[in-house]
Amino acid sequence: MSQVIERSSSSAEKYQLRERLFKTEDILPMWVADMDIVTPPFIAQALRERLEHPIFGYEEMSESAYEAQIAWLQRRHSFHIEREWMFYSPSVVASINLAIQTFTSVGDKVIVQTPVYFPFMSSITNNQRHIVRNPLKLDEKGDYTFDLQDLKSKIDKDTKLLLLCSPHNPVGRVWSREELLALGEICVENNIKVFADEIHSDLIFDGYKHTPFGSLSKAIRDISITAIGPGKTFNLAGLSISTLMIADEKMRQDFEKVYKAVHFAEGTVFGHVAFESAYREGDVWVDELMEYLTCNITLLEDTLQEHANILTCKHPQGTYLLWLDCRGFGLSDKALRELFIQKAKLGLSWGTSFGKEGSGFVRLNCAVPHAVMQEAVQRLHQALSCL
Ligand SMILES: Cc1ncc(COP(=O)(O)O)c(C=O)c1O
Repeated sequence: MSQVIERSSSSAEKYQLRERLFKTEDILPMWVADMDIVTPPFIAQALRERLEHPIFGYEEMSESAYEAQIAWLQRRHSFHIEREWMFYSPSVVASINLAIQTFTSVGDKVIVQTPVYFPFMSSITNNQRHIVRNPLKLDEKGDYTFDLQDLKSKIDKDTKLLLLCSPHNPVGRVWSREELLALGEICVENNIKVFADEIHSDLIFDGYKHTPFGSLSKAIRDISITAIGPGKTFNLAGLSISTLMIADEKMRQDFEKVYKAVHFAEGTVFGHVAFESAYREGDVWVDELMEYLTCNITLLEDTLQEHANILTCKHPQGTYLLWLDCRGFGLSDKALRELFIQKAKLGLSWGTSFGKEGSGFVRLNCAVPHAVMQEAVQRLHQALSCL
């Protein structure tokens, strides 16, 4: 995992868009949520073996690939899924869009819990639905929780869907069973369907446990659409492969009509191979990855201790995304951006892109080799020491 791979010569978004977004190439790119850590060798080997077969015509995703994911979800999360509930999707964001189109109408309201992964918002507005913000509550200790009172107060007859991010990007929370249950019960009572984006659900740090939303109760399962994929966990975003699951038969039939109308077919030959290999062979690698990421976080935390009056990082419970609280600087968001780009030379995701509640925060992707993390920490330390 410590191997540093030169990516700027590939089409990696994180590197290609540096100049456009940060007006300089002289930054360490730690924004896009993919890893600079190599994809596991057993997946690369499976892809090489497939490449030996020189025909790349139409291929179905094999039943054994679906079975591998079903077994993974059972083994890792005690989540029981049936094959007939599952759909292939090239992207979780595409699945969000299809769910909005299926389960809401133009003009309906869709709830988001800000600050949150920004395509949640654009998926709603791109489909001419209205965003209802149910901001997360942030306490003095820097902990985020759901605001269920606010949620209840915002529900009306036009509110049809809630987009749940679990674990949460960018704040790094792994929601507890109790929190999810309370949220789910409100949605059941109010006939609101829930899209559970669980793409980060395998990236869980020691001491925490991911609870699949659809596993909470039958009533909750029957209002939920769950999206999961190996893209984040195994660094396979470029292979466009994920699945979604809908247990309720009527919901599934409604979804299928919209799904068929876009014709995703069955995805790519290489996506299928990587997907199956990841879910069959990936257990040990993921456990090692989480240990590796923990060391990166410790590196940052040790340095930030010296600057705790201006910059803090809440230890994430899940994801490889660190949510840095910069409110201590007392700077505007624009000035913060300039500080990170020009002084620290770090390309980060800016808090306000996740909703106005992200003001005063930045997101740093720590899924990089230790040497790169050391460099980032060093740059940050120097910039902070010069203030
Ligand atoms: C919460 C969340 N959902 C979805 C995605 C993107 O998934 P996909 O590439 O499958 O559309 C990301 C990527 O950062 C994410 O953080």
